[in-house]
Amino acid sequence: MPVVAVIGAQWGDEGKGKIVDMLSEKAKYVVRFSGGDNAGHTVVNPHGEFKLRLTPSGIFYKETTSVIGNGVVVNPAVLNKEIDDLNARGIDTSRLLISDRAHLIMPYHIVIEGLEEEALGGKAIGTTRKGIGPAYADKVARTGIRAGDLLDKEVLRERLATALENKNKILTKIYGADALSFDDIYTQYCQYADRWAPCICDTSAVLAEAIARNEPVLLEGAQGTLLDPDYGTYPYTTSSSPMAAGACLGAGIAPNKLTHTLGVFKAYQTRVGAGPMPTELNDETGNAIRELAQEYGTVSGRPRRCGWFDAVAARLTARVNGFNSLAITRLDVLDKLPRLRICTGYKVDGQVIDNFPASTTTLVKCQPVYEDLPGWQKTTGKTRVFNDLPVKAQKYIKRLEELVGCPVSHISIGQRREETIVRKSVF
Ligand code: GDP
Ligand code: IMO
Ligand code: MG
Repeated sequence: MPVVAVIGAQWGDEGKGKIVDMLSEKAKYVVRFSGGDNAGHTVVNPHGEFKLRLTPSGIFYKETTSVIGNGVVVNPAVLNKEIDDLNARGIDTSRLLISDRAHLIMPYHIVIEGLEEEALGGKAIGTTRKGIGPAYADKVARTGIRAGDLLDKEVLRERLATALENKNKILTKIYGADALSFDDIYTQYCQYADRWAPCICDTSAVLAEAIARNEPVLLEGAQGTLLDPDYGTYPYTTSSSPMAAGACLGAGIAPNKLTHTLGVFKAYQTRVGAGPMPTELNDETGNAIRELAQEYGTVSGRPRRCGWFDAVAARLTARVNGFNSLAITRLDVLDKLPRLRICTGYKVDGQVIDNFPASTTTLVKCQPVYEDLPGWQKTTGKTRVFNDLPVKAQKYIKRLEELVGCPVSHISIGQRREETIVRKSVF
């Protein structure tokens, strides 16, 4: 009864899409459980190169059912386009299910988020401006509209009327912006309802039955644990939990059903958007990594901030997720570098600490304490067995294992499925 969660262990973009696409071969169900179209998961496989935002990365396998879980916020316009694009490229998407409990992103979420970010000026979070935060805020404020509401257009009408009345007050009275039209939004969402109604169901119940039949289930994380609203660099975080606990909640699977939690790390570190990042390299090496690895946002195209692997942050994310093993991606990006550094502690106010502080005011003061390792300066992309890696690359991986306190089961050395060293299978 394997139920495997693939969790982002840094600030997102760790290569979850690649790992999930590769592991999906053995899965019967692949479930997105958090976030929305703020995610951008790149998948390179025999069908081509894809940048998925809402669709689970298991969509490419004929036997696999793709599930958008209750923890996701769905922008139906983005889903329409993504599914149309996949279909145009010959991908069968007929096995997609959407939880009736998933909340919908509405046009006012996107407009309000843009206004909020503008109002914050230099203190802006640097969100993806997809309306993610406002949609989750409505969820907990109990004013959200859910996919299940699309199944009854009278319910949809009522919920939209109540929500929009309030949102239009915010738009016009607080921001001096134009009000949005009820008729336009209602007509648009009725069209989405006509398209998606056949896919909307109680996906938690579907997954419970699959687990009872012993069918393998893969839970696909979005974002990364350092963007978690509780354990990330608050307030510079996203608004849903990308963690293993979030996976159970957002897929509707009981925690005791999880059999393996796989933490995905880059072999170094990146971040997009604002907020502290102690190992950020604002120098030639940082630029070199960005250009070598083409570290630009999958969705936004924004340059990603690059830095050395941060073992202090990694220990936190391993602890709060309970990783059973790690996947280290993009090891090949480091192939050319003569010297590598790993951050083992932070120096702050004259003291060395080895725990990740909760406060961003403290984090910005943290100076990384580094351990240096020699680079291997050999190509790793064609390696398929751990012992065939250059010895210095093996040492780098072993040191990460020691520092994080968790075994590395997967090493990724390229974008494609086959460019992976599997030391221990998770299914
Ligand atoms: P995700 O959001 O975690 O799915 O990651 P993204 O897709 O946003 O960013 C990861 C990028 O790294 C994508 O362009 C992947 O195709 C690419 N990638 C994943 N694994 C590897 C790897 O081992 N080596 C290289 N060179 N690229 C990789
Ligand atoms: P994947 O799934 C990297 C970041 C944004 C911003 C913060 C809040 O591809 O790893 P939001 O729009 O969520 O309110 O923005 O979170 N962010 C991501 N960074 N990868 C992602 O997803 C991200 N999703 C959100 O840049 O800093
Ligand atoms: Mg991404």
